[in-house]
Amino acid sequence: MELITTYICKAFDIGVHNNMFGGTLISLIDDAAASYASQLCDTPHLVTIKFDELIFKKPVKVGNILKIYGRVIKFGTSSIELYIEVRKHNVYTGEREIVTHTNVKFVRIDEEGNPIPISDRVKSRYAARLKEFGKGLLSAEETDKEKLSLRLN
Ligand SMILES: CC(C)(COP(=O)(O)OP(=O)(O)OC[C@H]1O[C@@H](n2cnc3c(N)ncnc32)[C@H](O)[C@@H]1OP(=O)(O)O)[C@@H](O)C(=O)NCCC(=O)NCCS
Repeated sequence: MELITTYICKAFDIGVHNNMFGGTLISLIDDAAASYASQLCDTPHLVTIKFDELIFKKPVKVGNILKIYGRVIKFGTSSIELYIEVRKHNVYTGEREIVTHTNVKFVRIDEEGNPIPISDRVKSRYAARLKEFGKGLLSAEETDKEKLSLRLN
């Protein structure tokens, strides 16, 4: 798994029970998952087709820092399925807990909104990065290292 994004829970994220509103958390997950999938697939033209079951295991309070992690479960022909996990980090206690996790699936679409294949280059690059770096989104330094190794091979 790799860290996709971090978010601090604010007063305006709170619902009626002093906890972060569930819909806001789902939106954050969709946002993080879509941006992760888009970067992996080299395209913003992805639509969410499916969310698996999602259980809110722990409440999120104002000031809690959420860390959203992800990994690819599977590439299909036009789809990419991700495992997404949200952990909260309490800055007062240093405690970290899993708030929720789920699988999210996206489909790559063309201008008309029809499914189109995700390229084999994207799939093989993810597999190669996972093997060498343990993740699909590389830092600038890691990308340079990857480019160098491609030139050398
Ligand atoms: C995504 C969409 C284009 C797919 O169209 P479709 O006619 O279902 O396409 P297909 O049947 O050819 O399936 C395309 C992919 O979706 C997957 N899929 C379709 N229905 C699915 C379902 N019920 N559950 C899981 N995956 C499904 C297929 O497995 C396929 O993946 P693959 O190519 O990797 O095998 C269409 O359903 C759509 O536009 N949905 C609305 C998306 C949206 O608005 N999302 C919210 C905003 S981003």
